[in-house]
Amino acid sequence: MTQDELKKQVAAAAIEYVKGLPIIGVGTGSTVNFFIEMLADIKGDIEGALSSSEATTQRLKNIGIPVLDLNSVDSVEVYVDGADEVDPNKKLVKGGGGALTREKIIAAASKKFVCIVDESKCVDVLGKFPLPVEVIPMARGYVAREMEKLGGRPVWREDYFTDNGNEILDVHDMQITDPMEMERIINDITGVVTNGLFAHRDADVVLIGKGDTVETVA
Ligand code: 5RP
Repeated sequence: MTQDELKKQVAAAAIEYVKGLPIIGVGTGSTVNFFIEMLADIKGDIEGALSSSEATTQRLKNIGIPVLDLNSVDSVEVYVDGADEVDPNKKLVKGGGGALTREKIIAAASKKFVCIVDESKCVDVLGKFPLPVEVIPMARGYVAREMEKLGGRPVWREDYFTDNGNEILDVHDMQITDPMEMERIINDITGVVTNGLFAHRDADVVLIGKGDTVETVA
């Protein structure tokens, strides 16, 4: 199977988790894009969706699914999103697509986080994929120096602004053996908006496209 076929396969498996739900959370990225396409078939059941990015908002609107403001929603049953890396404990690195802050907010506000990946995303130790850190623009240099002290090699995602008007440092060479602690330490650096570690609010279910099957880790 090609990587896109694996992504389609896990997207289809995730549809089963949202059938019949009036309000769902929708992530960002190429895997989720397949999921959004498939939502078109069940959109009659969906009152609205919470969107994690402007790109996803556009795609949802294109298929006629209303996008809701999280402030007007009391509870979200299920959030579906991809990841850049997944470890055996369902801790994730996210933010390759730059949407990490809104993704983290919707994941936090949702009862169940279903993460959909192809097997290339599975690792034993997080950190091979450069860890995205969203920063307030004036703090970029300071945060970069602090990340170097943590053993990372920050690279500025030049000419890129998040949907929140902030900048991103992609931090290479991190060996993240304790994701909970590292997430907390990076969040404590002044000027950091969010980091791409999803360890405190990790995935509840990971669907992994492997060969012609989908493995469920719950
Ligand atoms: C975007 C994300 C995505 O979930 C992550 O980058 C995976 O994307 P893809 O499905 O395209 O591999 O965190 O901010």
